Amino acid sequence: MKLRTDHLVIGSGIAGLTYAVKMAEALPDRHISIVTKANEAESNTKYAQGGVAVVWDREKDSFNKHIADTLRAGDGHCDPMVVAMVVNEGPDRLHELMNWGAQFDIDDGGSLNLGREGGHTEYRIVHHKDITGHEIEMALLRRIDQLPNITLFDHHFAIDLITEHHFENDLPNEIGCYGAYVMDQVTGEIKVFEASTTLLATGGVGQVYGHTTNPAIATGDGVAMAYRAKARIADMEFMQFHPTALLDGAEKQSFLISEAVRGFGAFLRNKHGERFMLRYDERGELASRDIVARGIDRELKRSGEECVYLDCTHLNAAEFEAHFPNIKQKCLEHRIDPQTDWIPVVPASHYLCGGIDVDQHGRTSIHNLYACGECSRTGLHGANRLASNSLLEALVYAHRIFAWQRYQSLSEVPRSIPEWNDEGTVINSENIVVKHNVKRLQALMRDYVGIVRSHKRLALASKNLQTIYREVETLYRESRLNPELCELRNMVNVAHLIICQSSRQDENRGGFYNKDLDSSRRMKKHDTMAERKAMDCEQREELILA
Ligand code: FAD
Ligand code: SIN
Repeated sequence: MKLRTDHLVIGSGIAGLTYAVKMAEALPDRHISIVTKANEAESNTKYAQGGVAVVWDREKDSFNKHIADTLRAGDGHCDPMVVAMVVNEGPDRLHELMNWGAQFDIDDGGSLNLGREGGHTEYRIVHHKDITGHEIEMALLRRIDQLPNITLFDHHFAIDLITEHHFENDLPNEIGCYGAYVMDQVTGEIKVFEASTTLLATGGVGQVYGHTTNPAIATGDGVAMAYRAKARIADMEFMQFHPTALLDGAEKQSFLISEAVRGFGAFLRNKHGERFMLRYDERGELASRDIVARGIDRELKRSGEECVYLDCTHLNAAEFEAHFPNIKQKCLEHRIDPQTDWIPVVPASHYLCGGIDVDQHGRTSIHNLYACGECSRTGLHGANRLASNSLLEALVYAHRIFAWQRYQSLSEVPRSIPEWNDEGTVINSENIVVKHNVKRLQALMRDYVGIVRSHKRLALASKNLQTIYREVETLYRESRLNPELCELRNMVNVAHLIICQSSRQDENRGGFYNKDLDSSRRMKKHDTMAERKAMDCEQREELILA
């Protein structure tokens, strides 16, 4: 079946929905289709806790301070123009979100209540208790519902982008995108969505690591589709690990204990009660995420323990509950009372700083293909994202893509786009093979491509991935497709990109750390006392590991 739409959006998190609302409001005669693979609200966005980083209080805070914090966290790898642009546009985008009905916590004086998180030198995190993402997602979905020129297709899985590779023998110099092949997960039919523009807003890749704060949908589909279509993909080595996921034994998604809890005054302790982060950075628990995650990793490797602890027992109990009701509830479900017990935490994969390379209008290297949100690489985050800059980035870029597209006329879609061809394939009765390979892949990424990497581990990862890749490609060619198989194939592509780009990286920076790389070169670039202390610890760890 062929469906024709003006603008196709793949993904219904903050990025896809914000763009769709803006386009639909400004261009009522255009039609926008959103396809999303689970129910309409399921996304990383829905689970965001801490909030949106925005300079709101212009007396205490300033754009320059937020810019400086973002650049410091990004460790010399951000695009300064992009950082300034995103930070400066933040307040306008937040106003729009509030106009669409999103509500944020207010303090006694009637102003927005601003929280603080690691790497921020000021209080600037706008939040809705500890369920900010849920509030934003619901407000956007309500607005989408009111706009007649948007159709949202839930349980529709995008398999591949439509480019000339699908219907031309002689490829043009500039590859274009004309929509996507999408599986209706209820009927199993693969539909052709033809569109003048396509926006990838497919979110993160956390599931590639198994142990993650991300929900099951975060399998890197957009990055993999763009990669197969030959778009430029960058900075995949900069995977961010969140320092404090609850040690809950969860199979798919670990519950996050927001960084805002540390911003609120919680301490990280080892089992002896020591505030070990002060050994690694003078900012202690509020150092940027890469430093805290590595600090915990080192502490765990040294002690052989399975977790460290977040100590909230000294915090005002009533205020804690008012700010973090969801976190408190979840802890209680695990028989941990944050008022009296330390919360057991471990780092978990959390956020992809790299992704599909885009310019300041969200354009990828493929004509008429755009990317927004976590699947994109804009240059904002550099080597390590500053906490709560992700929702902000999605809001700003959704607006910029809209601002660019609204004055473009609709481009033609070629007539020769073929239907999906699954001739010769059979229904795969061996789903156990898919499940087994997902587990193999996740173990490989966790053990060899985690917080601390080495040349040897990366080489082993690359070699072992080849075996998985061959098995999965054979299965893909011979089987009638299902979402699990497509997700596995996508995760293998993403793992390949992370491993390759990690292997090419020749210096430790931000979230990337390879223990075999020359530390002294980096020391010259980051000659602060805190960095030097961290380097000392790293070198000691190498001796211990040796
Ligand atoms: P998502 O919200 O992940 O949406 C992706 C969408 O694409 C989903 O609807 C998904 O179903 C769909 N999709 C994916 N693949 C396909 C496919 N093949 N076909 C069809 N649909 C598909 N950031 C902050 O700034 N502040 C925070 O406080 C914060 N807290 C966080 C807490 C947690 C637990 C997590 C996991 C992340 C947090 N982040 C936070 C990061 C932030 O939530 C995400 O980066 C952001 O929400 C990503 O938005 P998105 O629209 O790009 O993607
Ligand atoms: C958190 O609340 O700790 C997550 C914030 C983020 O990922 O930006």
